[in-house]
Amino acid sequence: MREIKVGVLGLGVVGSGTVRILQENAEEIAQRAGARLVIKKIAVRDVTKTRAVSVDPALLTDNPCEVIDDPEVDILAELIGGVDPAHDYVLRAIRNGKNIVTANKEMMAKSGHDLMEAAGAANRDFFLEGSVAGGIPILTAVKESLAANRIREIIGIVNGTTNYILTKMTEEGANFASVLAEAQAKGYAEADPTSDIDGFDAQYKIAILASMAFNSLVPVDSVAAQGIRGVTARDIAVAKDLGYHIKLTAVARQDGMGGMQVRVNPALLPLSHPLANVNGVMNAIVLRGDAVGEVMFYGPGAGSLPTGSAVVGDMIAVARNIVMGSTGRIGCTCFEKKRMLPIADVETKFYVRVLAADRPKALASIAGVFGDNDVSIESIVQRVQPDGDAEIVWVTHKIREANLRAALETIQTLPAVRAVSNWIRVEE
Ligand SMILES: NC(=O)c1ccc[n+]([C@@H]2O[C@H](COP(=O)([O-])OP(=O)(O)OC[C@H]3O[C@@H](n4cnc5c(N)ncnc54)[C@H](OP(=O)(O)O)[C@@H]3O)[C@@H](O)[C@H]2O)c1
Repeated sequence: MREIKVGVLGLGVVGSGTVRILQENAEEIAQRAGARLVIKKIAVRDVTKTRAVSVDPALLTDNPCEVIDDPEVDILAELIGGVDPAHDYVLRAIRNGKNIVTANKEMMAKSGHDLMEAAGAANRDFFLEGSVAGGIPILTAVKESLAANRIREIIGIVNGTTNYILTKMTEEGANFASVLAEAQAKGYAEADPTSDIDGFDAQYKIAILASMAFNSLVPVDSVAAQGIRGVTARDIAVAKDLGYHIKLTAVARQDGMGGMQVRVNPALLPLSHPLANVNGVMNAIVLRGDAVGEVMFYGPGAGSLPTGSAVVGDMIAVARNIVMGSTGRIGCTCFEKKRMLPIADVETKFYVRVLAADRPKALASIAGVFGDNDVSIESIVQRVQPDGDAEIVWVTHKIREANLRAALETIQTLPAVRAVSNWIRVEE
């Protein structure tokens, strides 16, 4: 059987899962691909490090150019992460005629477009399934199985760390800081959790996914990203009482008039929402297409073998194309240029929690400000607290964020108002 040589950059979490799958499922992979996938070389930083998978030490190098410039390598898997130097390595590999597989969301969200164009111009494959939802095959579904649809809307839970933290807060009534510390101790959160907690990881992922689903490049810096630091145990408890769970959502919607909203934010989801009970580190994505209707993808959004599954799946797709002489079949699909809606203009329902003095007319004064700013109200719940103050929770109808912000600016200056404790979007 024909051999196709694979070069790998990186043998960390994803690299070792990828290599393990190539080793353990070699026979099935060869039959499915129509060729044997043989690892030619693996670049790492430190060749002496103990690895999670056993590899012939002769395969390892600390010089990535030995992989990128090897004329026998047909498929280059970039699994080192980050933009620099990964971007330059991948570009050089494309110029050397390699097909590319990557799981690098940051590189793809920040500077993936030119890489895909370069690969397309060279008639080479460029696949990135592992970059958006780990083991969940969402990009292939969007590009191939659902290619008949106009995709109007995507809403997903695409970050396992934040979903784990919010699930624990919901189940145990615990506060954010203590659950984060526990997640770090268990290895579910990084020592520096910023990328997950502040929504950047999800921002990269939804920028990539929306670009593919809407056929229009979504610049990552135009994706408003808000993380979960501001979500309190009290918000979760109040939301629960109202029939909602709070999740970190990545949302992309088209308005049908050439406008797109793409954003990451915590949101209240009604318990009947398909994502409301996606718990722990699991990820899920709901996608609405004009022909298919609603489809949901659920699974592990990260991890060594799940992400390795996506990477090796991509390699098999490349190998099939190499065998048939058809690489470069599906290139970059951002052939339209749609407008990004500013976050201030994005309309959703909102949850607003206010602490106020429990005195006559306090509620009326707040309601008056909402009215002045075209913020219409769906429901109000007022509870008197043990200290005698009133906690008032409002759920608005669909309104522009700018209107809510304007109202809250005035509300926090009202004499009866102690604090605007929080406001969070509500999805339907
Ligand atoms: N972890 C996940 O579950 C997951 C899920 C989906 C996507 N991803 C993406 O997959 C990529 C890899 O993530 P990971 O978690 O596997 O990272 P990781 O565990 O930190 O592994 C990175 C690997 O790359 C090597 N490396 C880093 N810089 C290098 C350089 N300049 N030259 C040569 N080798 C270099 C490291 O070598 P040493 O081992 O010698 O230090 C290490 O083997 C990232 O883009 C990440 O966003 C990860």
